[in-house]
Amino acid sequence: MLEEEIKVDDHICLYKNLEPLMPLGNRSPDGTSLANSKGSVLPADEEKAAVVEAMFDKIASRYESLNQILTFGLDKKWRKITLKYLGVQEGSRVLDVACGTGDFLRLLEKQNLKGMGLDFSLGMLQNAQVTSPLIRGDAQNLPFKNASLDGVTCGFALRNLTDISEFFQESSRVLKTGGRIALVDVGEPVNPLMKAGHAIWFKKAVPIIGGLLSDKTAYKYLPQSTAYLPSSKKIMAMLEDSGFIAIRHSTFLGGSAQLFSATRSVYTQRTQLAGN
Ligand SMILES: C[S@@+](CC[C@H](N)C(=O)[O-])C[C@H]1O[C@@H](n2cnc3c(N)ncnc32)[C@H](O)[C@@H]1O
Repeated sequence: MLEEEIKVDDHICLYKNLEPLMPLGNRSPDGTSLANSKGSVLPADEEKAAVVEAMFDKIASRYESLNQILTFGLDKKWRKITLKYLGVQEGSRVLDVACGTGDFLRLLEKQNLKGMGLDFSLGMLQNAQVTSPLIRGDAQNLPFKNASLDGVTCGFALRNLTDISEFFQESSRVLKTGGRIALVDVGEPVNPLMKAGHAIWFKKAVPIIGGLLSDKTAYKYLPQSTAYLPSSKKIMAMLEDSGFIAIRHSTFLGGSAQLFSATRSVYTQRTQLAGN
């Protein structure tokens, strides 16, 4: 594999792999082989990382404009609120995990934070219009030293990870004591009327519009991928198990989107084992 590694500073390496980070095996790179007879496009656990990486590579150039259309621009507002919940001081070192094309990073830059982005899709990183350093890497194996960051953010990516709990453990390891994490993702409204409207838009309209303007399989995957998302209670428990305290959960638009924020506590098993 051709790989260029650039040291940005003590903590950061910028990897520019020219081949997929996760080998795609014998799957078709256009994702068409994903659909099974019941219309599900969700890959099996062992293939998920490779399939997700290839899918985001494919839709990268139109990703942001599709977000804008499919959420009526609300995704940007939700990221802004999430950043408020992060609540770190100016100049703080914040890693945006699964940064994609850099929507969150641009917000960090505007707030005078020292932002860095990490994603495994080279296509998404190549389409990121940001000045912050970008790292090609895996959210579940962060290339940072223990206690080296003040904040971690993650936007609309939890569902795409193979192991959310591993990502929380890694975030806890790289955050300083008192460091903050803020995550935003899609959700499911509870109110029956909102739930019905949301189902029509998200499960029926989004795959059609996304399919016409970008990629059919990817925008079928989008609503189906909520099946990977644990309940908010479970996510909060996972954060707690990973060494976070002051865990908060809030929802937007009747539950169509949700955010989690938390503070890294003094003690966690992983950092203790790593001798931090
Ligand atoms: C829906 S996009 C979100 C992008 C961006 N955070 C945003 O707010 O628009 C999901 C991103 O997660 C990335 N991703 C999924 N699993 C990952 C992993 N294990 N490590 C790094 N990036 C991952 C994908 O490549 C993709 O860019």
